[in-house]
Amino acid sequence: MLVSVIGVGHVGLVTAACMADLGHDVVGFDVDGQKIELLRTGAVPFVEAGLAELVEAGVRAGRLEFTADVAEAVRAAEVVFICVGTPRRPDGAPNMSFVQSAAATVASHAQRPAVVAEKSTVPVQTGERIRQALRLQSQARGGGLVHDVVSNPEFLREGTAVADTLRPDRIVVGADSERGHAVMRALYAPLLARHDCPYVATDVRTAELIKHASNAFLATKISFINAVARICELAGANVHTIADAMGYDARIGRAFLNAGVGYGGSCFPKDVEAFIHIAQELGYDFGMLRETDRINREAKAWPVAQLRRLVWNLADKQIAVLGIAFKPGTDDVRDAPALDVIDALLAEGATVRLHDPVALDHVRERYPDAVFCDKAEDALRGAHAVVVCTEWDEYRAITPQRLAELLTYPVVVDARAVWDARALADAGLSVAVVGQPPLSPAGT
Ligand SMILES: NC(=O)c1ccc[n+]([C@@H]2O[C@H](COP(=O)([O-])OP(=O)(O)OC[C@H]3O[C@@H](n4cnc5c(N)ncnc54)[C@H](O)[C@@H]3O)[C@@H](O)[C@H]2O)c1
Repeated sequence: MLVSVIGVGHVGLVTAACMADLGHDVVGFDVDGQKIELLRTGAVPFVEAGLAELVEAGVRAGRLEFTADVAEAVRAAEVVFICVGTPRRPDGAPNMSFVQSAAATVASHAQRPAVVAEKSTVPVQTGERIRQALRLQSQARGGGLVHDVVSNPEFLREGTAVADTLRPDRIVVGADSERGHAVMRALYAPLLARHDCPYVATDVRTAELIKHASNAFLATKISFINAVARICELAGANVHTIADAMGYDARIGRAFLNAGVGYGGSCFPKDVEAFIHIAQELGYDFGMLRETDRINREAKAWPVAQLRRLVWNLADKQIAVLGIAFKPGTDDVRDAPALDVIDALLAEGATVRLHDPVALDHVRERYPDAVFCDKAEDALRGAHAVVVCTEWDEYRAITPQRLAELLTYPVVVDARAVWDARALADAGLSVAVVGQPPLSPAGT
């Protein structure tokens, strides 16, 4: 099938490459001309396992191309995926102007009735808005094409996006027309032939809500375990053992029960706020999600509170921050909790020594006075304390003895539980590991 992808960011580029892999002919378009130029040279603009190879294979097979010419991108498309950003506005509502402009683009340039698929995460009832935008723009153009609108929410996780897309847990398609359902089934038929998974066919509004409900639920799971972590620190218990034991219960499951520095990334924080906002607009106060959000803010403030307790004044102290990306396996720093930690440290007058294996370049402009370190050991050397914000495997390999040698003050705040608290204390370090009681070396 002829597929067009509008917005080739994290979701759009993965969608485009995977659709080409399934045998469709795909054109990717983006308003960011530099991104298109880069893609045309064969480079991929962000870190994502397996994506560069898949893009290259698609281009080589002649099934994937990128263009900065929107008319060319949508002219003949049977399916147009809208994959543009839906960033949050100051009031928590998502900014839907990119979605509207993408829809107008389709209506302006399509030369056949297309199925317009929302892949961006959008509030319930956006489908009606897209339909309206398509109609208005078609009328303005004097044309009479009627496009179908479907919701096909994306559940990929950055870091495993390609595998998640080619071997999804489920595919959700919301359509209000037979044609919409039929075209999407045909589109996904090659994937389902390779990988059997549930295919949820429903109406547009239900599909839109499935995405917000899923992300809000996962965020709530994280906030729940972070609240339990606070109780563990006060009561002298270990949240990680609790999470393991809870996770053995098939009704609960172990995933998303890792206590830490709060959820971040480009999705959960904004999607939780957007869901609260749309619920409010519809007349329902989703108080539970406001609490999810509040606990998350508390989790992001935890490391600096611990540093204050262990180091006292942070002004003029050197603090090593290990990990900036919002999770391992990606260089994405959008809404990364590490940014809240660094901002708070700078506000207190500390100097930050930053390390991340892949994400440093994305924060150089934001933190002109930070010390950027290519190696974790360089960040640690001479720092008064260290705080771990992303659980990269390479940090686990640093021994407590090495930490004790490198740090000026023996203070560790491990907001991702990468190290064993007892081993750190035995090596002479004062320790705050998330979800465990604070430990000091024997005799102090
Ligand atoms: N990143 C994820 O893990 C993830 C997972 C599931 C769903 N989503 C959702 O998917 C959507 C996109 O997220 P993302 O992470 O890919 O964002 P992104 O910022 O990486 O990519 C969005 C792209 O859209 C382009 N764009 C904006 N307006 C455009 C327009 N009018 N025409 C063409 N291109 C336009 C931007 O230049 C950018 O390249 C969001 O709604 C997000 O919530 C993201």
